[in-house]
Amino acid sequence: MKTVRYSAWALVAILLAVVGYAWIAGGTGKSVMEMAGADIGGPFSLQKTDGTKISEQDLKGKSHAIFFGFTHCPEVCPTTLFEAAGWLEKLGEDSDKLAIYFITVDPERDTPEMLDVYMESFPGITGLSGSPEELAEVQKLYRVYSRKVPLDDGDYTMDHTATVYLMDKDGKFSGTIAYGENPDIAMEKIRKLIDT
Ligand code: NI
Repeated sequence: MKTVRYSAWALVAILLAVVGYAWIAGGTGKSVMEMAGADIGGPFSLQKTDGTKISEQDLKGKSHAIFFGFTHCPEVCPTTLFEAAGWLEKLGEDSDKLAIYFITVDPERDTPEMLDVYMESFPGITGLSGSPEELAEVQKLYRVYSRKVPLDDGDYTMDHTATVYLMDKDGKFSGTIAYGENPDIAMEKIRKLIDT
């Protein structure tokens, strides 16, 4: 009888430990995400296609979406930019509440002039470039990965993070839109972003 009672208590203790651990782990998981969020973004200096300088301070005051890529990208970048231009279209007269920036990860080929021509296909989106050092710095701030991949013909392509970063009016990280995300969900995120 005594043994049974001890076993029962042992079971209760184990259950409490498991529930407690799950609760702590759940709580920790959330705060890790929040910390990661707070860590995305920061001071940078880049260049618009007209040659003028732009910093994170200039982006404040308006909700904005930031995407990293390169003009020679065969699919991911044009698809994302096409969808992003669509967000502005769907926002209609609210479109002035959102700014969208495309930051190159390929400074070697994406000169401001090259970007300028490329951005004509994506109305409302601002192309940004900079020196290799400036671009490396901003990639670090957004935890963006990019890598040059040689092609057989001697040319190269770029492997890169395909996430769209959503930043609020104060320049604080507010969320992401993944490549290939459901368009309705993406639009919901955009509307929520401009309403905050
Ligand atoms: Ni791309």
